[in-house]
Amino acid sequence: MYTKPDIELRLSGCEEKLDWAVVYANTNPVEIEFGCGKGRFIIRSAQENPTVNYFGIEKSGKYFRILKDRVVKAALSNARLLKGEAGYFIKKYVPENSVQAYHIYFPDPWPKKRHHKRRLVTPEFIGDLQASLIPGGCIFMATDFEDYFDVMVACARAYPVLQELYCRVITPEEANPEEALTNYERKYLLQGRPIYKAAFRKTVNGE
Ligand SMILES: C[S@@+](CC[C@H](N)C(=O)[O-])C[C@H]1O[C@@H](n2cnc3c(N)ncnc32)[C@H](O)[C@@H]1O
Repeated sequence: MYTKPDIELRLSGCEEKLDWAVVYANTNPVEIEFGCGKGRFIIRSAQENPTVNYFGIEKSGKYFRILKDRVVKAALSNARLLKGEAGYFIKKYVPENSVQAYHIYFPDPWPKKRHHKRRLVTPEFIGDLQASLIPGGCIFMATDFEDYFDVMVACARAYPVLQELYCRVITPEEANPEEALTNYERKYLLQGRPIYKAAFRKTVNGE
């Protein structure tokens, strides 16, 4: 049961959907990042946007420890973290119409066909995201893996309520690795790889 705004949320025994106003002790908009890794995106975003609440989910114990340590050191009052699995968390704990944005950056691509079922982004997962977005809320995605990018974009395009904002390739020549959103984006740009990015917005009455 969550009762006070600690940085790490522990949900064992909690059976109800989250109340974001209790999690953050305020009613600011909420943005969620899946698979934060070492936390470059969530820490910088929380520092630059103090009136937005950021929620980071990371399933690896090793990365979660680094992430939590960095968020604690940054003394961010608008960041919360969960060590857990993103798909389960969204389905079980996130209320409908409650999230301003989702950030999915460099999800594990699982390139072998027999491992595709382990991928985070599926039609069902995008369905859960669009249901929990507020009208006007957005899904942002990025990867270096073209095949997975095509799948991610196709999953989002399958929901008419999601309006495509952009779908593009960033070449290493046009990007500055030091301005990369995440650690993986920086690493791949330095390696000279193209990055694929897309964003979708939940429409309100078709607008
Ligand atoms: C390739 S790394 C990318 C890390 C970070 N987003 C970045 O761009 O630097 C993928 C991260 O997602 C985490 N991850 C993979 N599947 C996950 C899931 N189902 N739920 C939560 N985290 C997950 C992994 O542990 C890993 O830290």
